Amino acid sequence: MPKSVRDILSMKNSKKITVITAYDYTTAQLCDKAGVDILLVGDSAGMVMLGYENTIPVTMDQMCLFTEAVSRGRQNALVVADMPFMSYQSSKSQAIENAGRLIKAGADAVKLEGGSEIKDTVRAIVEIGIPVMGHIGFQPQTTTLQEGYKVQAKTKDAALKLFEAGKTLEEAGAFSIALEMVTKETSKMISNSIGIPTIGIGSGPDCDGQVLVVHDVLGLYEKIKPKFAKRYLELSSDIVKAIESYKNDVISGKFPGNEHSFTMDKSELERLKKEIV
Ligand code: KIV
Repeated sequence: MPKSVRDILSMKNSKKITVITAYDYTTAQLCDKAGVDILLVGDSAGMVMLGYENTIPVTMDQMCLFTEAVSRGRQNALVVADMPFMSYQSSKSQAIENAGRLIKAGADAVKLEGGSEIKDTVRAIVEIGIPVMGHIGFQPQTTTLQEGYKVQAKTKDAALKLFEAGKTLEEAGAFSIALEMVTKETSKMISNSIGIPTIGIGSGPDCDGQVLVVHDVLGLYEKIKPKFAKRYLELSSDIVKAIESYKNDVISGKFPGNEHSFTMDKSELERLKKEIV
C-alpha cells in the first residue's frame, strides 16, 4: 500500500520526510525503490524535461502526462502533483476541476503556490476531498515574473508575512507546506508554530522534510545550479561519455558484437543460400 497523507502527517516531530521530484516512469520507480516518502511531480518538469526557461508555460495536459507516468512507477511513495500556472487562479471551480484531473491521472494530492490569497481555493479543493500541499516563500510561477530568483523572508516584515501565510494555509486545510528559498530562521519559526509538516527546499535544516529536484541530485541539469541543491552525482558528464563511446563503437564496427546479434539455425541458412544464389 502506498503511503497516505495521514502517514505523512504522523511524521511531524518524529521522522524527517523525504521528497524528490520525478516526471517519468523509470525515474519514479528508482526513487520509490530508494524509499523516499513523497514523489513530487513538480512543474519544474517544464524546465528540466521540456527545456522552458521557467515553469510558466507548463500546461495541465503536460502535468497529467507526467503524473500518469510517475504514478505507474511508484509502489510506496505518496504522489503529489503540481498545479501549473493559471490552472487554479481564475476561479474555485477551475481549481477543483484541474485538481480532479491530476487525481484522475494518478496523484494522491496536489500542490499549489501561494499564501493567504489562495486560502479559499485551498479550502474548496480540500473540502471536496483532495489533499493539498501549499507552497510559499519563493514561488517560481510568479516570483520569476517580478524579481527573479531571490531568497525570501530576509526582513522581519517579510518573515511575518510568510509566518501568517503558513498559518492561513494550515487553517484552510493544507496537509503540508513547501517552503522554497526561505531564510532558515523563518523556516524554523514556521515549522515550530504549525501542526502540519513543512517541506524545505533551500530553507535550512529545521523543516520537517526536504525536497530536491531529481535532476539536481543526479547532476543532470546544467543550466541552473542552485546553491541549496546538493549534487550527489555528476551524471551528465557520464552520460556524454557513454554516448560518445557508443558512437565511436558504431563507427569503428566494434558494436554490435556477436553477443548483441541474433543468428539463424545453420541448416536453415544453408537452405536459404541455395535459394538465393
Ligand atoms: O516544481 C518543483 O519542482 C517544485 C519544488 C521546487 C518544490 O515545486
